[in-house]
Amino acid sequence: MEKFHYINGEWTGQDLEKLEVNNPATGELVGTVPVGGKSETKKAIDAAHQAFPAWSSLTAYERSSYLKKLHGLMMDHEDELAELMTLEMGKPLHESKGEVAYSASFVEWFAEEGKRVYGRTIPPHNKGRMMEVRKQPVGVVGAITPWNFPAAMIARKLAPALAAGCTFVVKPPSATPLTAVRLVELCEEAGIPKGVVNLVTGKSSEVAGELMSNPHVRKMTFTGSTEVGKKLMEQAAETVKNISLELGGHAPIIVLDDADIDKAVDGVIASKFRNGGQTCICGNRVYVQEKIYEEFISKFADKTKELKVGNGLEKGTDIGPMIDKDGYEKVEKHVQNALSQGAECVVGGEGYEENGSYFYRPTILKDVTPGMLIMNEETFGPVAPIQKVKTDEEAIKYANQTPFGLAAYVFSESVRRGNHVVNALDYGIVGWNDGVPSAAQAPFGGMKQSGIGREGGHEGIEAYLETKYVSIGL
Ligand code: SIN
Repeated sequence: MEKFHYINGEWTGQDLEKLEVNNPATGELVGTVPVGGKSETKKAIDAAHQAFPAWSSLTAYERSSYLKKLHGLMMDHEDELAELMTLEMGKPLHESKGEVAYSASFVEWFAEEGKRVYGRTIPPHNKGRMMEVRKQPVGVVGAITPWNFPAAMIARKLAPALAAGCTFVVKPPSATPLTAVRLVELCEEAGIPKGVVNLVTGKSSEVAGELMSNPHVRKMTFTGSTEVGKKLMEQAAETVKNISLELGGHAPIIVLDDADIDKAVDGVIASKFRNGGQTCICGNRVYVQEKIYEEFISKFADKTKELKVGNGLEKGTDIGPMIDKDGYEKVEKHVQNALSQGAECVVGGEGYEENGSYFYRPTILKDVTPGMLIMNEETFGPVAPIQKVKTDEEAIKYANQTPFGLAAYVFSESVRRGNHVVNALDYGIVGWNDGVPSAAQAPFGGMKQSGIGREGGHEGIEAYLETKYVSIGL
């Protein structure tokens, strides 16, 4: 499959060097995209800049009808998009299908939310004056998206941007650009006017460099590592760009001794092993109170042993491959470090390589202690390290002892104790008896070094709007 850039309504880049996209489960070639750089990105930004006046002048209802068409097309192509996603990213097919529906839900929800971008009037402090607050689209948006959710992370940016009246240039990840290209093909099929959506694949540093330095780009939205996010923040300073960052996490899961243990086990499995643990909000470390420690671990282990590792296209696969060797090695490093410092392996504890592809078995480590690497860094793999805690306060203290603040989880049947923990957690998202809290209509994003801004929910469209105060003398 040979795919290209989409700039000003044209598929281009046929003459450029090609980037190969390989299946992480087999190493086989899935397709190619062009290696674009500064000049292609500049053309895409120019196209978005030229398309902005007409697109932003449409009514919210007109923009909504394009997005509704796109939503319909995404759902019509659900199976095909899911298969492509599994081929290039590796996640199990049922998860890919879930991601297509999740992605389409952003498009549908923002198609409606665009109609609710209200301003307001302010009572004036003297007669002969009217005071208004108006909202307007921020302008051209640049988006850089990650490989772990190849469709959802674009949809969550594209849908609110377009609904707000912005035009869009996206740089998808080099590991998984094909799903993004297919989504943009569907944008074309939905009739979205040329120049409104543009896509450039290729050299991250060049494409990002142009997006960050070009003054026509008024908003940058990025999902990826905290390290890269910090660099983008620095670069945004030059043109004082509006910026949204969804960065790394290191989510704690707290299981209190009044939890429904079966519910907690299911919640921890859903959170921890979603996408093989390659999810920014997935639980990275588990704190279980001593009274239920052994029972929780035994039930968690029984269910974890049933999980099947393999090619995501094969029926029954629960955990696909790690995205690459580096990802695999980080997981292995965290596990070995914990074992060498006295943790006990309850399930898994190893991975394997097959024809250049890397798989890690779902792993549970018990008697983990706070100083171990895995309790201090994001693992991005299917490993659940469990630390025993005595009190609610001790669990809260450990949970907050990190520079990250994306997602956290608590399992408790007590309204009083659960609510106390929720209030004390310094995190942008908290799942209380819920391992998968994400939804199109809810704000998603982190505190501290996990990011700036929110995607999804009403906050998700606010991120693409400017506020204009108008004072009218009568
Ligand atoms: C992420 O890994 O950041 C995406 C997870 C989600 O949207 O639930």
